[in-house]
Parts: sequence; C-alpha cells; structure tokens
Amino acid sequence: MSGERKTGLVLGFSERDCSFCDKIFLMEEIISLCKRRGFIYQGSEIYGGLAGTWDYGPLGVALKRNIIREWWKFFVDSRDDMLGVDAAILMNPKTWVASGHTTTFSDPLIECEDCHGRFRADKIDLDAGCPTCGAKTWGEIRQFNMMFETNVGPVRDEDSVAYLRPETAQGIFTNFKNVVDSFYPDLPFGIAQVGKAFRNEISPRDFVFRSREFEQMEIEYFIDPTTWEENFEKLLGLTHEFLSQVGLPTTKIHELEVPDSERAHYSKRTVDIEFDFPIGREELLGIAYRTDFDLKNIERESGKKMEYRPKDGSAPFVPHVIEPSFGVERLIMAILTVAYQEDKIDGERRIALKLPEHIAPIKYLVSPLLKNKPELVTRAREIYDNLKTTGEPVMWDDSGNIGKRYRRADEIGIPHCIVVDFTTLEDDTVTVRDRDTTKQVRVKIKELTNVLND
Ligand code: GAP
Repeated sequence: MSGERKTGLVLGFSERDCSFCDKIFLMEEIISLCKRRGFIYQGSEIYGGLAGTWDYGPLGVALKRNIIREWWKFFVDSRDDMLGVDAAILMNPKTWVASGHTTTFSDPLIECEDCHGRFRADKIDLDAGCPTCGAKTWGEIRQFNMMFETNVGPVRDEDSVAYLRPETAQGIFTNFKNVVDSFYPDLPFGIAQVGKAFRNEISPRDFVFRSREFEQMEIEYFIDPTTWEENFEKLLGLTHEFLSQVGLPTTKIHELEVPDSERAHYSKRTVDIEFDFPIGREELLGIAYRTDFDLKNIERESGKKMEYRPKDGSAPFVPHVIEPSFGVERLIMAILTVAYQEDKIDGERRIALKLPEHIAPIKYLVSPLLKNKPELVTRAREIYDNLKTTGEPVMWDDSGNIGKRYRRADEIGIPHCIVVDFTTLEDDTVTVRDRDTTKQVRVKIKELTNVLND
C-alpha cells in the first residue's frame, strides 16, 4: 500500500482507491499512536503478550478515568434518581445459576480438524474454509461457556469453583435489596456500577474492541412495569445525550432494534447503539428491557423477597428493569477514532487528537521558547508549578524546537500550549496556542487561568 491517503478526515491529500485499506490504515495508525505515546499497550507484551488483554499507559489511564468520571457525573451525580455501588468481582456462584449464565452464556465454537484453529462459528464463513489454513474439514459445533473459572480458598474442588464476573450487572441486582433497605428511594430509580468484566472470548479481535478483560459502565433502572416503554425511551435519550457530550457525532451513531432471535435470554427489547468504527459498523453499547427476570431469579435462588413497597401504600411488586450497558473500551475506541485527525500545517503533515477538552488526558503544555535561556525557563517553571496547583493535568516540554513540541502536543490531544518567550520578560504575557485552529493569542499571566477556563 503506497501513496497518501484520504480518509475524509484528511485534508489536501491525494485520493487512494481502496476505502477498505484506508479503514485498516486508520485503525493501524491509531493503534500505533496509542502504543508510541503511552495510551494503550498490548497486555504482558514483555512476555509475548496475552491475547485479549490490554494495558493502559499514563495517557490512556488519564483518558479512561476522564471518560468514566464524565459518565458518572452525567448518569449519577447530576441526577436525583441514581445511586452507585461497587460490588466484588468474585461473587457466590449461585449468582450465575440464577442469572442463567452457567447454562446460556456461550458462543458456538468450531475447530478446524487440519490446523486445529478454533473459531466462533457464527463469525466466519464456514464454506470458505478455515481462515488460517484454508481447509474445509470442520469438527462439530459445540457451545463454549465464556465465563472464566477459578477456585476460592485453598481447596480446588467442585465446591470451591467461582467465576470472574462476565457482567457488572449482577453486582447491582444482588445489592438491590440492600440499597432499598438503606435508602428506600422513590421508584423509578437506578443503581449504577463501573468495573471490570471478564469473558473468555473465542476470538478476541480488533484492538480493544473484543477483549477478554474489559470494563463496563452499567445502570439497572428499576421501574413499575406499566411504564417500561417511556423509561426505555428516557434512557435511550440520555444515552444519546451523553455520547454527544464526549464528542461522538450523531452521523456515526445508529440504533439497531435487535430481533427476537438475537436478543440475550433475559431481554424483551434490546436496542444496540452501533458506531461507525474504522473496522465497520459495530455495537458500541446496548440498552435492554430485562423485565423482572433477574430479581425473580434471585428470589428463587436466595429465598429472599425482592419486592418494592410503593410509598402510596399500594401492593408490593417486583420491579422491572431497563439496563443501559456501556463498554468503556469500545467508547474509548470510538472517541479516539473520531478525535484522530490529520491535516497539513505549513505544508507538513500533522496528526492531532482533537479530543473534547474535558476528557483530554493533559490540558496544558508549558514551554520556555528556548531551553538554554534560564530567565525563560524560570518564568515558565513558575507558570507550570502554578497550574499544577489547580489540579489540572499539565505537562512540561523543553526539548527540540517549538514546532516539534507543538506537533508532539497535538498528537496526544493537549488543547492548549503555553509558551514563555522574550516578550514575556517585558510585559508579563505568554502565548497560548489552540490545538485545533493552531491560532496563538497573547494572554497576561495573571489572567491565564481565567482565560483558559473560559
Ligand atoms: N449486562 C449486559 C451486558 O453485559 P453485553 O451486550 O453482553 O450486555 C454490554 O455487553 C457492553 O459491554 C457491550 O455493548 C460492549 O460495549 C461491552 N463488551 C461486551 N463484551 C466485550 C468484550 N469482549 N470486549 C470489550 N467490550 C465488550
């Protein structure tokens, strides 16, 4: 693949023919940027990796935490009808019997009898032959349960088997009674949780898109069953609002009404929110009407009542549930693919991560124009130290020329670069450069934080 690309994001580059290659190219460039600049590394890379696992570097963890913080602020802190929990990852195995995961949480597995490659039978064209060796000698399709098994305690036997949770949702359902007993919230109300989930995916793929260890942000929204349709629409609307707040354009977001035959065993209605990733249109998150499936099963398995007593004195009932379920990794991938942009500045190719400012891992870069002028360095250090005390993430860079520093800052999405130059020494102003427009303005140092906050 040679020549320069045009991705719709790229300005002023000559066009290439193959849009498929283009998408692969874009994904590869994002993966390479993520590794080069410390966003996301392959898990256990030093030992040759562990398939389906990823490690977040210094910038990746900052981006991820910002996204989770915005989600929590939007869905929990800014609302009266949401509460949070943080349940243990290891749960009593009865949890997964009650939820149906021990019997139904499986994917169809098929093995090539020639090279012994194993694949998800529903994700490949069996008639086209084995994706690895081309042979058409397939074994039987069998259901493969995706829960990771472990043992709790020093004895490894049937009774000590436990599972790493495959969804955070069950930590919410199993605490429903606790939260109601402690808070007795008005119905409808939601319980939110953010945390790790684990699935032994047959074929992890596409960077962080399908991983074996990932993070979910889930809400179980408890309702009176007669109101399920309006509450479903309410949560769907809130979901769209949140996606736009983290910078995803509506043109890339699509709703898919999941047909009966493809819905999870617990759902009466599911809408998948799909996103136009470089790898194609794929599921970003899902919203499901889980009815009273989970609470009723917990009643059966635990022998405890899961009823809610309405405050108007009417008859107690088991609430139904609407569940918006976000995958953090897929959201990060969507945000990165939108933010990653290329243009030309002074005839040179520039990569900029145009992340919304409130989720950018670093907000400000502070630089002295010249590294070997102590008076500039001292002044710049003062500004850097002051900004540090505000608690905002700020970075120092004095290596290479100023143009190179701007390029490095653009590539990791820093919205503002502050430079101390010789004029600073005369009038106490600095230049502030905007990542997206590359425009620079002079700002009085004492007004810096006000201007930046504006
Ligand atoms: N509690 C419902 C639930 O877990 P799901 O559709 O299986 O539903 C919800 O998962 C979301 O979790 C997905 O939309 C996706 O964003 C994320 N997710 C699921 N499996 C994943 C995986 N293997 N790797 C990364 N994210 C995943």
